[in-house]
Amino acid sequence: MLAEVNQICDLVRKCGELIKNADRKAMKIQEKEGRANLVTEYDKKVQEILRAGLKEIVPDAGFIGEEEEKHTFSESGKFFIVDPIDGTTNFIKDYHMSCISVAMIEDGKGKIGVVYNPYLDEMYYAQKDCGAYCNGEKISVSDEDLENGLVLFGSSPYHEELSKKTFEMVYDYYLKALDVRRSGSAALDLCTVAIGRAELFFELILSPWDYAAGGLILEEAGGIITDMDGNPIVYDRPCSVFARNK
Ligand code: IPD
Ligand code: CA
Ligand code: CA
Repeated sequence: MLAEVNQICDLVRKCGELIKNADRKAMKIQEKEGRANLVTEYDKKVQEILRAGLKEIVPDAGFIGEEEEKHTFSESGKFFIVDPIDGTTNFIKDYHMSCISVAMIEDGKGKIGVVYNPYLDEMYYAQKDCGAYCNGEKISVSDEDLENGLVLFGSSPYHEELSKKTFEMVYDYYLKALDVRRSGSAALDLCTVAIGRAELFFELILSPWDYAAGGLILEEAGGIITDMDGNPIVYDRPCSVFARNK
């Protein structure tokens, strides 16, 4: 593994402490575009800590953070895609199911992925072609069939027009699988499939910062991630996500 992977994990762990010890009662919450789309001062604080810290770790890499005004993607070279808090609604509700997600993309492909759940102190990380790990242990997807599988889904909460189709699909999976779950953090859902605790995850629209890191972790754990039509996921615009153990 590259030394940078450990350095990113250390940085992300520090951000996790900030989230865990946040003064949630006093924090400012703002609304963003779309339904139920909120942002807190902690999303912004963590983003700025990551921007400065990642610049020191990989000085020649660009930076894209969810809470920035403008997102400039590049097809070549290195850039980070960061979700400072994935699961902001959970964070606001003190639901203890949020994470920090950092991916580094190189020449259009995922190179490093780090996802940290501070509540369980679970650090997921992967480097392209080097496997996926959680707290130092190698992880892999399960080989369970759908019939005995847990299906995770995201409700695309900021896109109400997709909710009917989403819940029809959930009902279908509910009948075919063992059961269904909705966590509120897409990055953690991808890691949950990667570590073999669930078998499938889908969401009809997500942004690159939601899936860039978790997607690489899943692939390095032996899983598959595409969009709902079977095409490779993209890093320069939103797409649907269909992730599974096999
Ligand atoms: C959201 C979470 C959620 C998913 C949404 C995402 P945010 O990210 O990952 O699980 O259903 O589509 O936007 O807004 O909490 O960073
Ligand atoms: Ca997110
Ligand atoms: Ca977020």
